[in-house]
Amino acid sequence: MKRFRRLRNPAIRNFVQEHYLTVHDLWQPFFVLEGKKKQEPITSMPGIKRFSVDLLLKEIESYMRLGGRAGVLFGVSTHKDLLAKSAYDPQGPVPQAIKAIKKSFPEFLVVTDVCLCAYTSHGHCGIVEKGTVHNDKTLAILAKIALCHAEAGANLVAPSDMMDFRVKHIRQALDTRGFEDTGILSYAVKYVSAFYGPFREAAHSATQFGDRKTYQMNPANSREALKEARQDVEEGADMIMVKPALAYLDIVGQLRRELTVPIVAYNVSGEYAMVKAASQKGWLNEQDVVLESLLCMKRAGADIIISYHTKDALKWIKNNEN
Ligand code: PBG
Repeated sequence: MKRFRRLRNPAIRNFVQEHYLTVHDLWQPFFVLEGKKKQEPITSMPGIKRFSVDLLLKEIESYMRLGGRAGVLFGVSTHKDLLAKSAYDPQGPVPQAIKAIKKSFPEFLVVTDVCLCAYTSHGHCGIVEKGTVHNDKTLAILAKIALCHAEAGANLVAPSDMMDFRVKHIRQALDTRGFEDTGILSYAVKYVSAFYGPFREAAHSATQFGDRKTYQMNPANSREALKEARQDVEEGADMIMVKPALAYLDIVGQLRRELTVPIVAYNVSGEYAMVKAASQKGWLNEQDVVLESLLCMKRAGADIIISYHTKDALKWIKNNEN
């Protein structure tokens, strides 16, 4: 019989620690506004703001000073229609932000969310026909958005719409236009989740009718996650995302064991909001809860974590060295 406590004393504890959080684990999401000199707080996500491109650059600069090296861009649009035309407008907030970031900080890793929901008048992630989201008609638009982001200089495009075959379509569109080096991070395993609530306020992307149950995955299912992920890898995805994170770490672990591509866990808006609310009330220690949660995502098998806590976590990691 072993005495496990021997390895838990302060002199040895850190030497036997299996996982650590570093600056190479974390990506911060950014919400990009149209216009200039604009910044808006998001009520349900204290500490997170939407920025116009000029102010976003300042935010990224301060993030980089803390060690931040990568960000995921989400557009916020006032130009909404049935076909999401503004989603692939090169003058739109996301392509403009990509260009500006790459000009000022060429080494910064730019990842972009590729979806229709912030640009459609009904808020769905695809083209709506006869009251339902039409899979195959959405594919061409997704490819246009991905191409528009690649042309602006994005390193990775991340489709989050959950249409079938979108990775194959996007890969083909990128390759035929000479963007074979632009990678695809597929939100392959995206569950229909109440934890996205605050994001819909942030991106003004709430659905005007119905819900996303016909395209996002059922939280009750895990075998399906493996099928989705395997097919996306076959279609050309370079990395696979699981979303949300905390209640879905069994899925992260399962995919880590079954696949060889990097796995990304998305610690979503509702997960952020819960921690913020409880810590503002003094019911939780924010720093401890955040660092524990992020570390446990790594332990579960995530190679990369997208989290709204990233900027704070980078400060805390620096101070703590753990
Ligand atoms: C767009 C998209 C969503 C999120 C990321 N990309 C919202 C949704 O699917 O409703 C959620 C992110 C978060 O909650 O932090 N399709």
